Amino acid sequence: MRFAVLLLLSTLTLHAQQNPSTDKYRPRIHFSPLKNWTNDPCGLYFLNGQYHVFFQHNPYADTWGHMSWGHATSRDLLHWTEHPIALPEDPTVMMFTGSAVYDQHNTSGLCPAGKAGCPILIYTGHQPKAEGRPRREHQNLAAALDRDGLRYRKYERNPVLDENREEFRDPKVFWHTASNRWIMVVSLADQHKVGFYASADLKSWTKLSEFGPAGSSGPNWECPEFFELPVQGGANGDTRWILKIGMGDNHVSGGSGEQYFTGRFDGTRFTNDNPPDKTLWFDFGRDCYCALAWGNQPPSKGIRMLGWMNNWSYAKDIPTAPFRGQMTIPREVSLIQTRDGLRLSQAPLLGKPAASRKLAISEGRGALPAGAALDLSVSPKSGGQTLQLQLRNAANETFAFGYDAEKQEWFADRRQSGQVAFNPKFASRSTAPHPAGAPWSMRVVIDTSSVEIFAAGGQVTLTDLVFPNQPWTTIELAGPSAAGLDMQITRIQ
Ligand code: FRU
Repeated sequence: MRFAVLLLLSTLTLHAQQNPSTDKYRPRIHFSPLKNWTNDPCGLYFLNGQYHVFFQHNPYADTWGHMSWGHATSRDLLHWTEHPIALPEDPTVMMFTGSAVYDQHNTSGLCPAGKAGCPILIYTGHQPKAEGRPRREHQNLAAALDRDGLRYRKYERNPVLDENREEFRDPKVFWHTASNRWIMVVSLADQHKVGFYASADLKSWTKLSEFGPAGSSGPNWECPEFFELPVQGGANGDTRWILKIGMGDNHVSGGSGEQYFTGRFDGTRFTNDNPPDKTLWFDFGRDCYCALAWGNQPPSKGIRMLGWMNNWSYAKDIPTAPFRGQMTIPREVSLIQTRDGLRLSQAPLLGKPAASRKLAISEGRGALPAGAALDLSVSPKSGGQTLQLQLRNAANETFAFGYDAEKQEWFADRRQSGQVAFNPKFASRSTAPHPAGAPWSMRVVIDTSSVEIFAAGGQVTLTDLVFPNQPWTTIELAGPSAAGLDMQITRIQ
């Protein structure tokens, strides 16, 4: 009997849900750990109807340290179940960011006996500098032990790729069908480069090439992501490779952020479509970093990705408890032909809505269901006019966003949005130019402590954390086009 009770208790702990009613800033539809710190998502993979997300996690505190891989799964990308730590830190090595593959034919020989294939996690081992030993980063493997991918065993001959480097991290690994082998992309962070490697068995790696510096070079390059996408609106069968890179600082909107390159990959080398000084930004807000794609996801016209919704400039100070850090809404990212060239377009993945209605606006105001997670669709009847929208709460705090026709830019302004003073770098107004020929529509995902704007038909995204002292209750409209707007509001949860 005692055994049965204990078992029940541990299952409850394992599947404990996040609690928006007691944790003021707990998101309703975004993943956040039950408690303590998270930064990057890592090792994303899809298997048996489940989306696995691992995350950079400090199991002991709400600040960075003791980096381990936490683990959560979801079937609908809105409800998450947290599981025990998948990769705990080793005595002198922390578990840094990486990726996951499904080793279908057990090329690694690491899948448990009797299994045809299994998920393999590829992570960076980070050995901090200490007396008598240098800082060191290398790449490592861990194989899933069970069908549901809940338990992992680190490979006993780790590391599998070690060049005695101090800045060598965040491996992205995938199966490259054309050359019939595994490819790894790793950042040489301080050199603003990534390295490409190949392997037949995930255990022995040969260097192929390097790419960079190009585009924007913050103090480091990290969290590379690399995948092929069909060109929407291009010739039949036309594809391009996308190389996405995080930069710890110097993002166009301030602090950490991400850029991407479009180009070709011949199995050895990546060739940029654009001149080396051209920078394409992945998101124009303050809080989208280290966005990674699920491995083993079913093919579609786009790719599903998820980022850390935060910024290294102030991540350690954000006023949430008992957790610190959350992920962006998962996004479907596709590649489209535009007047300016090939560009990414993003759409939030929100599943089936709980309820949807036309937003009733009178005298420029509409009531919002307080505390709910919302999907707001805004379609101006005629495009190109100034559009100013504002979320407001009972404390008179506001989050302003929209389109400025004079400057031809989209904007997101959180300077009056509630708690902003916890770090001088947090209060901000971010802007993004309107891409030539793009639609004027806008979709906005609003959760307890974030606003994610998908403007210009998804070609512009602005992702921002917000910490209002009370929930948003009203949306207000201003500007010349306020009368000619269609607004739809969907309650997601
Ligand atoms: C990016 C990053 C990665 C590293 C991890 C450590 O946010 O710096 O490069 O692997 O965080 O937590």
